[in-house]
Amino acid sequence: MKKATAIAPANIAFIKYWGKRDENLRLPMNSSVSMNLSNIFTKTTVEFLPHLTRDEIIFMGEKTTEKEKERIIKHLERIRKRARIKTKARVVTKNNFPKATGLASSAAGFAALTLAGTAAAGLKLSKKELSVLARLGSGSACRSIPDGFVEWKKGISSLTSYARMLFPPEYWDIRDIVVIVGKEKKKVSSSEGHKLAPTSSFFKTRISSMESKVKTIKRLMKERRFAEFGELIEKEAINMHTIMMTSSPPIFYWLPKTLEIMRGIWEWREGGLEVYFTIDAGPNLHLICQGKDEKKVLLRLEKIKGIRKLVPNRPSKGVYLVKTHPF
Ligand code: PMV
Repeated sequence: MKKATAIAPANIAFIKYWGKRDENLRLPMNSSVSMNLSNIFTKTTVEFLPHLTRDEIIFMGEKTTEKEKERIIKHLERIRKRARIKTKARVVTKNNFPKATGLASSAAGFAALTLAGTAAAGLKLSKKELSVLARLGSGSACRSIPDGFVEWKKGISSLTSYARMLFPPEYWDIRDIVVIVGKEKKKVSSSEGHKLAPTSSFFKTRISSMESKVKTIKRLMKERRFAEFGELIEKEAINMHTIMMTSSPPIFYWLPKTLEIMRGIWEWREGGLEVYFTIDAGPNLHLICQGKDEKKVLLRLEKIKGIRKLVPNRPSKGVYLVKTHPF
């Protein structure tokens, strides 16, 4: 095969990855647990073409920086090395959401590039091998390879740090309603943020609690204990943001709207509506509820002024190849 197209979902971490123990290999300080998202994804076509003298990277409908292109070319080099080829490639990629929404993630992008790239280069890798390779492009991308609910074990080396499925998508009918409150490009990328994490005086304490948090969340998921699960993911998000806010220099990803919605959620919960939030490296919130409550949560959110967009998601499968090439 010389040409392949893959679709990969974004994922939301319940127990988060913040801080690396190896910068080049993107080995995380701790294990993490996430869910793949059904409505935020990237489609990427890779084609190796002998007449090209350099790689061509095309983002459909969006601008790309040189830095972003270089990171993609570096990943193509990893794939070429593995396939023992020298041919340059044309990469065409399209997010189903514009990057400016803060939704299009590097996780979905590098997971799709890894599968499309390796398939186009004639390699047939296992899910584990794909996950290890995707991790080298962007840490959280390794979690967009397996299906459904996923654990990324920190491992002891590059080959043992990868993600695997904990439960398939249909295991638990929970939803993630993404609430977009800000669209401006983040001032500090997650790559830079990871580097700053150890400057927080709370970082050591955070890391010492992570493996036991992963264990607990897996048990709560296994037993489908939603309220305790929700409490834990919310605390975990606040814990990670405390590290960000106490780094040198400090990183504040929240906007006033982020806090307003957080407080709204706490009030709704007091009134009996079971909904919890988590937040990644940005101002947008991910509201986690059970399928039976999704409509109620959406109705309440629609009454809040200043929200730019709502994107409801179900648990989804991981990366996969498609036969028709759009590009
Ligand atoms: O893979 P990166 O470098 O974009 O890091 C992801 C960091 C968080 O989204 C904040 C947390 C996580 O585990 O996804």
